[in-house]
Amino acid sequence: MLNKEIVAKINKQINFELYSAYVYLDISNYYADQNLNGFANWFKIQTQEERDHAMLFMDYLLQNGEKIVLTDIKGPSFEFTDFRQPAVEAFEHEVKVTAAIHDIYGAAYEIKDFRTMQFLDWFVKEQSEEEKNTDEIIKRYDLFGNDAKGLYLLDSELAARVYTPPTLVI
Ligand code: FEO
Repeated sequence: MLNKEIVAKINKQINFELYSAYVYLDISNYYADQNLNGFANWFKIQTQEERDHAMLFMDYLLQNGEKIVLTDIKGPSFEFTDFRQPAVEAFEHEVKVTAAIHDIYGAAYEIKDFRTMQFLDWFVKEQSEEEKNTDEIIKRYDLFGNDAKGLYLLDSELAARVYTPPTLVI
């Protein structure tokens, strides 16, 4: 059994991770529509990672005999006007996800819920990766993206990303 407030926060996080999957799917679709298929690939894999994050939170609740409450997932409402903007949205989104995970961690810390803290350790580390990866896309775009050849090479680089399942086992 877990504390009710922690369970509520994790249920909210499940929805947020699924929303994150929607955000990246929307970004992937935008790039695919622009024929930047490498960017589209990178963000489609990001969608899979977000779904994995949601599943891990669900597994954690199930493991502890807690009820999962699935709620409506908001659709993203982006109007992208250039190739750089989606990467900025992605980075800013990850900063919000980090804050949400830290919020759960803080609540677990307050009540000495060491089990949840240990479970969240993986996510804390993962978030530093998530922020770094999206920030890197912005920085590389700023370096190379304004030149057609540079953009082509960056797109080809992002096309090489392959999906790897999460390392965390519940
Ligand atoms: Fe599930 Fe990108 O954080």
